[in-house]
Amino acid sequence: MLERTRELLDSFYRGDPQPGIDGVTHALDPATRVSREQGELLAALHERLRPAVSIEIGMAYGYSTLFIADAMHEHGYGRHFAIDPFQRGHWHGIALAALERLDFGHRVRHVNDYSLPALVRMHEQGVRADYVFIDGMHTFDGAFVDFVCADRLLNVGGIIVLDDMWMPSIRKVAAFIAANLEHYQVVDTPVANVFCVMKKAEDRRAWDHFADFG
Ligand SMILES: C[S@@+](CC[C@H](N)C(=O)[O-])C[C@H]1O[C@@H](n2cnc3c(N)ncnc32)[C@H](O)[C@@H]1O
Repeated sequence: MLERTRELLDSFYRGDPQPGIDGVTHALDPATRVSREQGELLAALHERLRPAVSIEIGMAYGYSTLFIADAMHEHGYGRHFAIDPFQRGHWHGIALAALERLDFGHRVRHVNDYSLPALVRMHEQGVRADYVFIDGMHTFDGAFVDFVCADRLLNVGGIIVLDDMWMPSIRKVAAFIAANLEHYQVVDTPVANVFCVMKKAEDRRAWDHFADFG
């Protein structure tokens, strides 16, 4: 990790107020972020795959985005789409301002929309991705729809990472995937709070396939 990224992330994790794109400094809500351990995992998986295109759903202050963008910048690869309809409003554009400060802005494109229309539009535009991190709406249906849409964009060999396995809604999505989607393989990671799967093949299920997932 670049020294300047580490210093900025240290400041975020200390809870220091951060500037938004409005130039005003704002207090941070410490509840909204990936842990360092998760951030390091996201960066390591990203760096291992070196995807030409990656996607993240749910940017908030941009902890996860900074870990990913740092890996891309340091090794000189890829484009990253970060989808979040509330980045410029509720989150004051703090993630966007941090990316600019670190000179990562050219690698990351913020998509100012809800994930469902954004992912459908990307599909219509022919976008293909090799890495998707889902950390947006945390209802069962919200995360499930994010997964289904992400799958339509994902190349074989790509991965999808779901955050927040401590939540029953996210564990239910993971249980559906494990019980029903044989074309995905679970990737073991040292971080219990994430569920990571790799796409092994395209979906070849019969139209009426269903396995109960508890
Ligand atoms: C837990 S936070 C993300 C934290 C971020 N990944 C980090 O590490 O700093 C969840 C984010 O999802 C965003 N969000 C909520 N509903 C969404 C939706 N339907 N589509 C995209 N983003 C959404 C929220 O604005 C919020 O920024």
